[in-house]
Amino acid sequence: MPKTEARTADMLRIEKLCCGYGRMQILHDIDLRLGEGEIVALVGANGAGKTTTLRAVCGQLRPMSGTITFAGASTAGRRPDQLVRDGLVHVPEDRALFGTLTVEENLRMGAWTRAPGEAAASMREVFELFPVLGERRAQVAQTFSGGQQQMLAIGRALMARPRLLLLDEPSTGLAPKLTWSVLDAVKRIRDTGVSVLLVEQNAKQALGIADRAYVLESGSTVLHGTGAELAGSAEVRKAYLGL
Ligand SMILES: Nc1ncnc2c1ncn2[C@@H]1O[C@H](COP(=O)(O)OP(=O)(O)O)[C@@H](O)[C@H]1O
Ligand SMILES: [Mg+2]
Repeated sequence: MPKTEARTADMLRIEKLCCGYGRMQILHDIDLRLGEGEIVALVGANGAGKTTTLRAVCGQLRPMSGTITFAGASTAGRRPDQLVRDGLVHVPEDRALFGTLTVEENLRMGAWTRAPGEAAASMREVFELFPVLGERRAQVAQTFSGGQQQMLAIGRALMARPRLLLLDEPSTGLAPKLTWSVLDAVKRIRDTGVSVLLVEQNAKQALGIADRAYVLESGSTVLHGTGAELAGSAEVRKAYLGL
């Protein structure tokens, strides 16, 4: 390992990742490092390859080349369900809730990796983080607003007790106030020791809460730095923040 990287233990390390769909290559030599307990944002325009990167990390897509190391072990050849058991949990772009099931039932589905009896404590923690879910625990998911559905999707992921949470555009479709409350919850989740890879098109808010961030452009990581450095960079402000 190069000397400069000997800071905190790596929760995730992506090296020279090339990935795509069939023979169509979308990601070109992606490099990314996420230390334990960090929020790292991956920002970039629509179509840049953010979702594709998360699919490769969670085991849904097999890399063409390059390596992905999660908590010190390569993810090569491991299925998404095996990675979930090891604590790598993905909240996909479409949230993938069970619309006709209640809040409580959705949350219980997220606890499939846990021993019987362990889910109750996690459910209490989710209700502390998102009180609205506790108040509406018997309501079916499809009646929820976009913000509440996003909270439920994150809550369900927490039921698996992740070490690394992959969030794909949690603010999509939310009003600014709700975006802040979801991103504030992401910070509180990080403060409990969970590492977070946060994908956002909404760069301004994401850079505001990220410890470090990477900018993805046409399938390549073109810039990286602390959230504050990137938010302050003229190049980033012009290209991604519309300022
Ligand atoms: N299932 C798929 N099959 C083929 N191409 C895809 C698929 N999903 C995404 N793509 C293509 O990959 C590129 C990157 O998409 P994506 O990773 O979804 O970007 P982002 O999440 O940054 O908006 C786009 O050109 C998109 O059309
Ligand atoms: Mg996407």
